Amino acid sequence: MKGIVLAGGSGSRLAPLTNTTSKQLLPVYDKPMIYYPLSTLVDLGIRDILIISTPRDLPNIETLFGDGSHFGLNLQYREQEKPNGIAECFVIAKDFVDEPVALVLGDNIFVLENELPELRRIASQTLDSAHILLCPVKDPERFGVADCAEDGKVVRLVEKPKVPTSNLASVGLYFYPADVVKYAAELKPSTRGELEITDLNNVYLSEGRLRALRMSEKSKWLDAGTPDSLLESSVMMAAEY
Ligand code: DAU
Repeated sequence: MKGIVLAGGSGSRLAPLTNTTSKQLLPVYDKPMIYYPLSTLVDLGIRDILIISTPRDLPNIETLFGDGSHFGLNLQYREQEKPNGIAECFVIAKDFVDEPVALVLGDNIFVLENELPELRRIASQTLDSAHILLCPVKDPERFGVADCAEDGKVVRLVEKPKVPTSNLASVGLYFYPADVVKYAAELKPSTRGELEITDLNNVYLSEGRLRALRMSEKSKWLDAGTPDSLLESSVMMAAEY
């Protein structure tokens, strides 16, 4: 399996911190934020990784990691001209994705515990279905949320619902078969003008090809994209050492 770290976007919720630099290069405890999602892919055994960011920020990220060989990685880089949505990464990466691919969002910080063996298994096989991870949160309206039937089966994913029907957020770590490139190319922009990862996941769901795994209670996940969650991420990672 190959990997993509998506590290573009405008970072507007972290302005003025992001007026001169990328959100994903801001410090989380003792490292630039992007180290953590990159390490998540590496922990899953993924070595061929494409990093996507803005024309402004990509050169700095490339300065940070180079070709990745000193970490035993094969890193490539590509620009996203404008923040046209998370799912656009598969359009940008179409010639990179010639096998199953994991996508991690560049502002998502994970401390994975019990699910690691299962995720490593997923990352080492040919996939027929997309796989997403769900995590219970206090503020589901900030995220993609899983609408579940009584038996717990996911029936629909809704992006930032005003009135969430569950507290299960879809976190920023996703696994797809190589046909994700075709489905991403067919997506239409949402009302906010973005190719939505939630729309892509709903396509797989409608075909009966989406598996949703619940994160274990011992694991931790944060989207570090707001001032409060950025601070919380530093505290969380400091406690891990
Ligand atoms: O954190 C998990 C959530 O991430 C999911 O629950 C949501 O379904 C998903 O839409 C996303 O929501 P956010 O509002 O947190 O997305 P955000 O705009 O912050 O983008 C997430 C990351 O992707 C961030 O590192 C910036 C990057 N990004 C985003 C967009 C829209 C890009 O590189 N390009 C883009 O066009």
